[in-house]
Parts: sequence; structure tokens; C-alpha cells
Amino acid sequence: MSVDVLLGLQWGDEGKGKIVDYLADDYDIIARFQGGPNAGHTIVIGDRKHVLHTIPSGVFRKDVINIIGNGVVIDPIVLARELRALQDIGVDTSNILVARKAHLILPTHRFLDAASEASKGKQKIGSTLRGIGPTYMDKTGRNGLRIGDIEKDSFLDRYNSLKEKHIQLGKIYPEVEFNIEEQEKEWFECLDFIKQLEFIDNTYYINQALKEGKKILAEGAQGSMLDIDYGTYPFVTSSNTLTSGVCVGLGLAPQHIGKVFGIFKSYCTRVGSGPFPTELDNEVGEELRKVGAEFGATTGRPRRTGWVDLPQLKYTIMLSGVTHLCVTKLDCLNGFKEIQAATHYKVDGNITDQLPYDLTDADITPQYKTIEGWLEDTDGVSDYDQLPAKAKDYLSFLEEYLGVPVMMISTGPERKSLIIR
Ligand code: GDP
Ligand code: IMO
Ligand code: MG
Repeated sequence: MSVDVLLGLQWGDEGKGKIVDYLADDYDIIARFQGGPNAGHTIVIGDRKHVLHTIPSGVFRKDVINIIGNGVVIDPIVLARELRALQDIGVDTSNILVARKAHLILPTHRFLDAASEASKGKQKIGSTLRGIGPTYMDKTGRNGLRIGDIEKDSFLDRYNSLKEKHIQLGKIYPEVEFNIEEQEKEWFECLDFIKQLEFIDNTYYINQALKEGKKILAEGAQGSMLDIDYGTYPFVTSSNTLTSGVCVGLGLAPQHIGKVFGIFKSYCTRVGSGPFPTELDNEVGEELRKVGAEFGATTGRPRRTGWVDLPQLKYTIMLSGVTHLCVTKLDCLNGFKEIQAATHYKVDGNITDQLPYDLTDADITPQYKTIEGWLEDTDGVSDYDQLPAKAKDYLSFLEEYLGVPVMMISTGPERKSLIIR
């Protein structure tokens, strides 16, 4: 048996939550392997919209086990809030398991995130201010606290000592408004609340499940271009968002990786700062934002929008070994007479389909192919044959260029608005 993977191939918000929720019906276990409450995964079931930040998107499927893996960073306040919201509407949360090796986001990590961003002025990352960067810094700096530490007598002393370190460190940054005592009180209350979840050694758990023939899907958060090593550094998040992150984030050997579903929008978005070669800072971009309702699921910020970037997609497909593609938000292009797709870049006068070392200061002009729009309704279409011919042409073009079959096409936020080929 193998572990399948679902990842976002762009800068996030590709529709991972919707597709994982759909696929979860076919799996025994859904596991998050990196990231934290910077993620916002939207799932629409009937007329209800749910946004998950820490909890895997299999939670709405009966009998599916949902694991928050060791590569994830957990803020007890966000997790408790998510649990309460699910419990309030009668969702069974007893199937959520948490890795003891997952690191904890302290209130002072959020304080440091805000302070660090304030110090950067125009160079700020535009982080979600959820404390992600500082928590992963403490993890790699070997100072962090983990879920399993909650069960130890030394926990409070270690918490206080780390908090004090953060307060000292905060002094090198500009002052930001942050009430540590108030946040701390809520944090400890929520820490108690999340103790209702089962804490596990996910390494043995997952490997044993594999041996027993259980079907496992790893759910990515953020997007491939936000990967700490391969993304648009330094405008990235602080974890490995690619397939390689699945192995360290869950405790799996590489040979267990099976199918890799790569998901991308029929156009492209980015939230936060950093390079975005195909960005449309004009009325076309505004129209994409409007039809796609492109506002952050976690922070509510307007997302930057642009055309699909094929060199970028080819790069992230290569890095993650994507075997199946899923195109989302096809319906959002219904109203465009012409659609563009970047096939190459002109970098310092040379045409290439490769990404330069640093997109931030490179002189990049995307080279576009213009595709005729279909100008027909595709909202909610679930049968490939029902798609307009020109929409099929667009999909065939993407598939041919990228060299990987498009197996799923999403045509609306709801579960049922999905074509499986
Ligand atoms: P994630 O972070 O990758 O899970 O994506 P988000 O939930 O942040 O953003 C995707 C947004 O697009 C959500 O509001 C979804 O409900 C919505 N969405 C997903 N697929 C489709 C689709 O095919 N069409 C439309 N119109 N909306 C979609
Ligand atoms: P999902 O899983 C879109 C972006 C932030 C910022 C950068 C670093 O919903 O796709 P961080 O808080 O991680 O230190 O911020 O990464 N970012 C996301 N953008 N979707 C996400 O998650 C994101 N998670 C982080 O906007 O630019
Ligand atoms: Mg999102």
C-alpha cells in the first residue's frame, strides 16, 4: 500500500480543502504534514461553508481518521476554536489524532511574528501573523515545545523560560500592541480543551496503518511556491510544502509515496508580498478577484490575481512528482472573451521556460499564449461531456503543455461541482 498526496501547485488557496473533502470518502486516513493555522481550507457542504485551519479536511467524512502530523505547528487557541465550531454543528471530532511531535505555537510566537513584520517595513512578508515563522525557528533552533511536552512535569517551567526568551528577543523589534497576559490565559484554557484529543506517536501509527492496508491521503497546506526551500524565498512560509515534506512531516519512507495529486486554479492568485510574474494589476485582475471571490480564507485580505503561469506549474510538478492534475475554478473563467496563459518567460532578454534563481529582482516578462474563451456557463458541471468545446480545448492545452493528465476539474465551491475523468 502507498500514501497518496494532494498538494497546491501555486501560491496557495488552490481549492485543496474542497478536493480533499471529496477524495476523503475513498480513504481511511487524511493527514496534514506541515503548516499550521496560516492555512484556510474551505469546504462547502449544502448551504454551509466551513473553513479549516489545523484540522484535516477529512473531518466531515464518517469513519475517516484525521491526523495532525508532526510537521504541523499547532496553536491551541485556533485548534480549540475549530473543535468547538465543529462540535456545535454535531460533527464527530473523536476521529482527530494529534502527533506528540508536533510543535506548539505560543502566544509569544504570534507576538514575535507581528514584531518581526513591523520591523521590515516595505520588505514585510505579509505573513498571516499566526506565529508560523517564529515557531519553526524555535523548532530548528531546538528550543521549541511539542504537544507531547504538555504531559511532562517540566512543561510549565519550559513554557515560562521560552516565553521570557521571546520577550527579550522582542526588544530588538519595534513595539507592537500585544497583550501577552490575556493571550496566555486563553492559550492555557485552550490547551486544556484540546487534551480531549488523542495524542499519538504518528510514526508508528501511520506505518502500522500502511501495513494493515489502510488507504492514506496526505493533505498539503500553503502552495508549492511558498515552500521554504524552493519557493519565492524569502516571500515564503516556513515549511516544506512539497511531496518531500510528506516524508518528514508524517514519518514515512519515500518509497511509500503513491499518487501525487497536484491542484491549481485555472488562473493564479497570491496573498501576501513577493514576486508574482503573471499578476494582473488592472481591471482584468479585478474581475478575476470578483468572480473568484478571491479574499483570504484565514485573514480576509484581497488576493492578488493573474493568469495561469505554466513555467511555474511545470517547476512545481517536477519538484513534487505530480502524477494527476486537478484544475479548480474553471467556472470563474466563463465570462472572459480571451484567456491568457504564460508559456515562457523573457528573463534579461532571453526566452526560457525555467524559473530564474531569484524572481524578486529578476527582469521577467511572461510570454503569453492567448486562448479563446468559451463564454458559456460551466457552473456546477459534473460531466466532462457537458463542458463547452473551448473549455475542453483549454484543458487539453494545459494537459499537453504540462505533460500530466488532468483527472479532476472543479466547477464550483460545492462538493458535487466536480468532474472526474
Ligand atoms: P485551499 O486553501 O487550497 O483549501 O483553498 P481556499 O479554501 O483558501 O480557497 C479556495 C476558494 O475557492 C474557496 O472559497 C472555495 O470554496 C472556492 N472554490 C473551490 N473550488 C472552486 C471552484 O471550482 N469554483 C469556484 N467558483 N470556487 C471554488
Ligand atoms: P492555504 O493552505 C495562501 C502566505 C502568507 C505570506 C506567506 C508567509 O490556505 O493555501 P506565514 O503566515 O506562513 O508565515 O506567511 O505565506 N500564506 C498563504 N497564502 N494560502 C495559505 O494557506 C497560506 N499560508 C501562508 O500570505 O505571504
Ligand atoms: Mg486557503
